[in-house]
Amino acid sequence: MYNVLKLNKIAAIGTERLGADYNCADAVENPDAILVRSAAMHDMEFGSNLLAIARAGAGTNNIPKDKCSEQGIVVFNTPGANANAVKELVLAGLLLSSRKIVEGIDWAKTLKGNGDAVGKMVEKGKSQFVGPEISGKTLGVIGLGAIGILVANAAVALGMKVIGFDPFMSVPNALKLNPHFRFMKSNEEVMTNCDYLTIHVPLTPETKDMVDAEVIEKMRDGIRILNYSRDGLVNCDAVLAALKTGKVAKYVTDFGNDQILGEENVIVLPHLGASTPESEDNCAIMACDQIKEYLENGNIINSVNYPNVTAAKVGDKRICVLHKNVPEMIQNVLVEIKANVVNMASKTRGDYAYTIIDINGDAATEKLEAIDGVVRVRVI
Ligand code: MLT
Repeated sequence: MYNVLKLNKIAAIGTERLGADYNCADAVENPDAILVRSAAMHDMEFGSNLLAIARAGAGTNNIPKDKCSEQGIVVFNTPGANANAVKELVLAGLLLSSRKIVEGIDWAKTLKGNGDAVGKMVEKGKSQFVGPEISGKTLGVIGLGAIGILVANAAVALGMKVIGFDPFMSVPNALKLNPHFRFMKSNEEVMTNCDYLTIHVPLTPETKDMVDAEVIEKMRDGIRILNYSRDGLVNCDAVLAALKTGKVAKYVTDFGNDQILGEENVIVLPHLGASTPESEDNCAIMACDQIKEYLENGNIINSVNYPNVTAAKVGDKRICVLHKNVPEMIQNVLVEIKANVVNMASKTRGDYAYTIIDINGDAATEKLEAIDGVVRVRVI
């Protein structure tokens, strides 16, 4: 029986897939795995049983990934599972940033009580809410992962010129982009050549404040900036100052904070990007399937701290070794286990690596964790 702790509401359509061998609940002692959405995990202590954490979502900045790597806990996310939901809200944000929809709705409410005069008042007052069309304008997309690609292609379909950049762009992802999309050579080239800017990158020390006063200064006048990725990517002091001068016309974000709430020309949504039943189901299914695959077969799919390694299980047993990415590690492990190896798969990712070794018969695994650089060993 595996114990799985849910730190947030995770759709039952996902947790049901774990099956009868799993006790998956909101309060579980010594969990083998944790399912999480937005709960902050940085101050949590992890038990020695804990093998995996799966985030039902894309961003993982609520999880202490370095600590998890050191303790041999594999962290998963669900890339793409909520991409369509976020894309749809970004499209809404594009229109909210351009046409004065929010202001118009607020004003229309103030006309309540004017009886038959409402129609005339609307026609007289509506000119305050003129805003440009997006068709024919240029959208800059920073980050071309699952969400960025969907946003770029949808914007092309809406008649926009779309440019973008992603230093980690994969060939399969590049092939998914509409042929009218144009690649730029840097984030700055995107940011300084568009009328609308949308950001789809994780928050890291490298991406923090990527939209700052210096780059805003070089942007087109009246740019509209959309941030559906994370608070911290856009420097709030800089954007508020630029809104005051009109350099930035509108800032739409899914990540509010006290500084920007209620400010003129700022539209704050309460982190609704993935809040659709469809994406909650997709994320839950993906997170639960990945946890089950790792616990039962040792296969790693969509990890954010260890390499993805999968292989069909052959042989009598599978030895799973999470280890540091250092020389002679695999040789040392193979010497120690003295086993009849029938298959092996291994990959590295930064400072860490993962090796699965399928064997026939027995193996001496007791001393593996004592090898310098081995983080965790499991025999399935
Ligand atoms: C994500 O990280 O996937 C998004 O922020 C959506 C969410 O977590 O609700």
